[in-house]
Amino acid sequence: MRRPSGPALGSAGALALLLVLAGCGSDSGSGGEGGLSVSGAYVPQPVSADMAAGFLTIVNDSGTKDELTSVTSDEAGEVTVHETVGGAMEEATRLPVPAHGRLVLRSGGSHLMFENLKRMPKQGQTISVELHFAESDPVAVTMPVKPATYTPTTGH
Ligand code: CU
Repeated sequence: MRRPSGPALGSAGALALLLVLAGCGSDSGSGGEGGLSVSGAYVPQPVSADMAAGFLTIVNDSGTKDELTSVTSDEAGEVTVHETVGGAMEEATRLPVPAHGRLVLRSGGSHLMFENLKRMPKQGQTISVELHFAESDPVAVTMPVKPATYTPTTGH
């Protein structure tokens, strides 16, 4: 095993960094398989392990529409997908990912809801989740925990 010469960065951290770097630009992603890619994933640091929200964007480069059907994580008792309808949260069973389109989970809109996390997520840590779809294979995502007040800077 060779020691990395750069600053120490755990593999989870490196993966999270890659996800963050992949969050902007690149219309046609480098992913060779499937049509789905995930960018801009993050979890604002919650006030407790009881409940945390998560946000990400799923991009569908294929000509086939898909649906996000469920989300799982070894690190939470339960993960649900919520829609925000008229200012109130409602559990969503399926969210569409249009062909050549995207499903955006963002603050104030649809989001992931983690309940009963095994540990209190802190800024700098990550939460691993798996996204399940009606058509495509599951997609594993490492979500970095950001400051509670974090808002993504998407200059688009
Ligand atoms: Cu919610």
